[in-house]
Amino acid sequence: MNEDERFAQAFYEDLEGGRLGLFSLVARTVFDVSGYFYAGNLLRSAGLRPRDRVLEVGCGAASILIRAHGLRDSTRRYYGVDVCLTMLERARENIKRRDLSGWVSIAAAPASCLPFKDRSFDMVLLAYVIKHLSDETFASSLGEAYRVLLPGGHLVMWEFLPSPIPWINNRLYSITKARRLRGYEEIVSFLAEASFTNPERFSIFAPWLPTRTLAVVATK
Ligand SMILES: C[S@@+](CC[C@H](N)C(=O)[O-])C[C@H]1O[C@@H](n2cnc3c(N)ncnc32)[C@H](O)[C@@H]1O
Repeated sequence: MNEDERFAQAFYEDLEGGRLGLFSLVARTVFDVSGYFYAGNLLRSAGLRPRDRVLEVGCGAASILIRAHGLRDSTRRYYGVDVCLTMLERARENIKRRDLSGWVSIAAAPASCLPFKDRSFDMVLLAYVIKHLSDETFASSLGEAYRVLLPGGHLVMWEFLPSPIPWINNRLYSITKARRLRGYEEIVSFLAEASFTNPERFSIFAPWLPTRTLAVVATK
């Protein structure tokens, strides 16, 4: 794990472990509620097909993976990785509560070093994760996503957009402990550098979020 990943891990361990007081409580509730709402929205907009093999990098409490299983082919196994062990513990509880332990698998791993063989997935998701990646880690994480995707597979990313209002950006950096917020053009140039093609922007209905978001799908 690199320095970015240790930094994100420490932040989410504190958040999930309840060590940030009221903020922990609010954040956990927001993740639970919003995750279940936007998961379906995100997966439909991203064009998830019934038999796609899906990996979510930074899967958090597994809301999206659980929703993917419910929405699509329930004979597929879905995979998630995350750097925060406490978050993964909660993901495991959520998966067990829904009796999906045989279908949704999670493991501890960072975005920059994925424990999967080349060409294993049709879709790789990065939902609300890339703000935690410095430019160097973002580039290596895109390289890993590219490696584990099958030819023709899709990378789907969703993240806060930088705001034209500096005060909002400062609040976002301070509250989420983000490393970097990026606009569409910048993300497109990272994708091209990692050999992804056909980047397309799409929108997801999430009116409860405090700022604008950016959703992008690109092809291997
Ligand atoms: C805001 S949460 C989003 C969780 C989930 N994707 C969702 O939308 O419900 C961000 C998650 O990314 C994880 N994370 C941050 N940086 C990571 C990295 N470099 N590799 C893997 N996971 C990471 C955090 O531990 C946290 O669980």
